[in-house]
Amino acid sequence: MSMKYSKMFQTGRIGRLEIKNRTVMPAMGVNLANPTGEASPEIIRYYEERAKGGVGLIITEVTRVDDVTGVGTTNQLAVTKLSQIAWLERLIDTVHKYDTKMFVQLHHPGRQTSSALCNGEQIVAPSEVMCQVTQEMPRALSNEECKEMIGKFVQGAAFAQAAGADGVEIHAAHGYLVNEFLSPHTNKRTDEYGGSYENRMRFLLEIIAGIRAVCGPNFPISVRLSADEFMPDGLTGEDTVQIAKDLEKAGVDAINISTGIYESMATIVEPGSYQEGWKKQYATAVKKAVSIPVIAVNNIKKPETAEQLLEEEVCDFVGLGRSLLADPEFVNKAASDKENEIRSCIGCLFCFGHLGAGGHIKCAVNPRCGRELEYADYKKDGNGQTVAVIGGGPAGMQAARVLAKRDYNVVLFDEGSKLGGTLNVADKPLLKDKITTLVDHMSAQMNRENIEVRLNTKATVEMVKELNPSAVFLAAGATPIVPPIDGIKGSNVVTAESVLKGEARVTGKVAVIGSGLTGCETAELLASKGHKITLVEMAPKIGGSINPTIFMDLMSRFNKFEPVMLPGHQLVKVSEHGVAVKEVTSGEVKEVEADTIVLALGVSPRRTLVEEFKQAFDTVRVIGDASRGGRIVEAVADGFGKAFVL
Ligand SMILES: Cc1cc2nc3c(=O)[nH]c(=O)nc-3n(C[C@H](O)[C@H](O)[C@H](O)COP(=O)(O)O)c2cc1C
Ligand code: SF4
Repeated sequence: MSMKYSKMFQTGRIGRLEIKNRTVMPAMGVNLANPTGEASPEIIRYYEERAKGGVGLIITEVTRVDDVTGVGTTNQLAVTKLSQIAWLERLIDTVHKYDTKMFVQLHHPGRQTSSALCNGEQIVAPSEVMCQVTQEMPRALSNEECKEMIGKFVQGAAFAQAAGADGVEIHAAHGYLVNEFLSPHTNKRTDEYGGSYENRMRFLLEIIAGIRAVCGPNFPISVRLSADEFMPDGLTGEDTVQIAKDLEKAGVDAINISTGIYESMATIVEPGSYQEGWKKQYATAVKKAVSIPVIAVNNIKKPETAEQLLEEEVCDFVGLGRSLLADPEFVNKAASDKENEIRSCIGCLFCFGHLGAGGHIKCAVNPRCGRELEYADYKKDGNGQTVAVIGGGPAGMQAARVLAKRDYNVVLFDEGSKLGGTLNVADKPLLKDKITTLVDHMSAQMNRENIEVRLNTKATVEMVKELNPSAVFLAAGATPIVPPIDGIKGSNVVTAESVLKGEARVTGKVAVIGSGLTGCETAELLASKGHKITLVEMAPKIGGSINPTIFMDLMSRFNKFEPVMLPGHQLVKVSEHGVAVKEVTSGEVKEVEADTIVLALGVSPRRTLVEEFKQAFDTVRVIGDASRGGRIVEAVADGFGKAFVL
């Protein structure tokens, strides 16, 4: 056991429950259960992998207590029917095999869901206050309905206990129903469940009392709170200290501190630009005020940070959310001093965004996440046959690693002097150091797997033929799109890629054409260097393809430079003095003055290389950008999947 992380690997307690270490996987929606709420083989395998990875306590995803207005996702765990108990039991039994404990998170989404998910029922909340993100007006629960809803939480806890759960967590954070009762931002009621602090607390306290009465005095209850809602009239850190004290008095066994509601989303799941531990002051204040254990998430990406937070007495248990999506072995690797083998979360928010779009859990850097059953064990049938992988970007490196694990002899070619491909461009904008960490991690894996890497080498058909490979994986990337527009070949026109690589000379005023992630990030970088920016986008909205939380985070910094934004404008001409753009709806053409024009119009797959290799070899797999031109998530998944089934 690691001496470096001595705090992390101390046993801990929640109530009478002993937990083998101080790591907790907080609840994360995965949408892998059956539509009727039972644990499926997929969700069991997903959690098993995290338990096997060494975490001390797993809290299930948002688990529904009400089938009528309480639906959060389409394939969510539920504790609403007796028939679900046996399946939940299977899940909990599986996790217990690894000496990992499991709590069930009891959840009702309140106003942060949709009637579409709730079978057409109007969504409900303490009061008629609409969430600015979900944009659906809820109806206020009647007094009688409040009492019924409390009963549903209690019944959910009883079902969880019957299934063998080690405890429950009441989800009173992130702007969901219980949080909505606590907060003056969303609770405008005039009955005994609204108004004063005591009244706003009543809904939660009655749930706790109900669970105690039904599940007994020793059944652990944790309450998750958003310490600061980051809303002008919302709960603050000070309010939360008071709430935590009163919850301790009410007999709660642990407090789990998070932050934010949907309207302040970046503080719930932070984009990559946020620092680890940025919100530690909230948990610290609560821990000082109570004597029951405090669990806290803190955007933790490294075991060092987890250990430091425990050392500083920020919390008693560290929450490792996305770190366990990205690498389920995080805890075991820390325990065996192999922290440099951890694949870290890059904060891209694909996981959360994809869930919101109705998909199941996926992680950009871990292609097995949510597909553990399908990607169980590597077939070891390579028998030393050679496979050539052309291109050392994310798709190529991921494929190379899987092939090496399958006992293929892998030779990896890259034209550049460094592995990483497009990641070596993607890490150049501001605050993208987590991408650099990913490149370093993936490159180190090539070494560990003894993959022969030939850098500075443009692979030709002849060269690859000499290897007599049984298959060729083409991960040769893509090239920036340069549309055939008058003046586009001028010396004042450069690509975003060349700007980020530091190859292009940028002077004076800049027009950036295209507002995808690359366009926006390049624009921000140039603005930070003093260039006046005009951002041109043909679509009606700037940054429409970017995850909304990432986009808002980026804009909160970029807007300080007062850029000119031209959504709904198409580039029609480039001249020495700038560009002409046409307003898409009116057809009106405008001149935009610019000394440098930066093209960020996406990439197109390198097809010529593909055709050449397809003609020369029987088994060719095209992966990553060379296949369709996409993001890290697609590249990594593509490389993994095609290498897994070769
Ligand atoms: C995909 C995803 C789903 C989440 N679902 C839940 C949930 O079901 N319940 C909950 O309390 N928090 C949920 N969260 C928030 C996490 O529990 C955690 O607080 C957040 O990811 C920040 O911690 P981290 O930086 O360690 O990931 C979710 C986060 C993610 C990324
Ligand atoms: S999808 Fe992105 S943010 Fe989510 S866990 Fe994976 S790397 Fe982190």
